[in-house]
Amino acid sequence: MIPESLKKTLEARVASAITAREAAVDVMKELQAHYGWLTDEAVGEAASLLGLSPLQVEELATFYEMIYRRPVGKKVIHVCDSISCWCVDCEGIIEHLKKKLGVGLGETTADGMFTLLPCCCMGMCGDGPAMSVGDVPYGKLTPELVDEILEMERQKA
Ligand code: FES
Repeated sequence: MIPESLKKTLEARVASAITAREAAVDVMKELQAHYGWLTDEAVGEAASLLGLSPLQVEELATFYEMIYRRPVGKKVIHVCDSISCWCVDCEGIIEHLKKKLGVGLGETTADGMFTLLPCCCMGMCGDGPAMSVGDVPYGKLTPELVDEILEMERQKA
């Protein structure tokens, strides 16, 4: 159950939206930040706040790749696996990430720090290969730069 203060914040966000659906992503992201991922309980809470059915929230949640319906690590890495990045060897970067983290795509490191997910174009095609860690985008990746970023992100955690 969410704290009363968060509930009031989210109710205010919904009240300020022209339609409840407009606030859906904000509500889901806030609930996700509270629980660590969008739990079934959070889906129910979002539905009640938005005046939608749990199924409608589920449909929205599974559409957005930054909303997680399964537990994730402390930081989620989205690595681009799309056409422009293919041309600059994102496959090599993905392989490097898998090896370095000891996980496959869709998996979380043993220490719970990182979850590695492939994603479609991140809009950084000119700076590929690209990835993001949490909300921070990184481009022109090399294996060496990936190592530096992972270390830096671990320090920041
Ligand atoms: S294809 Fe990778 S950022 Fe666009």
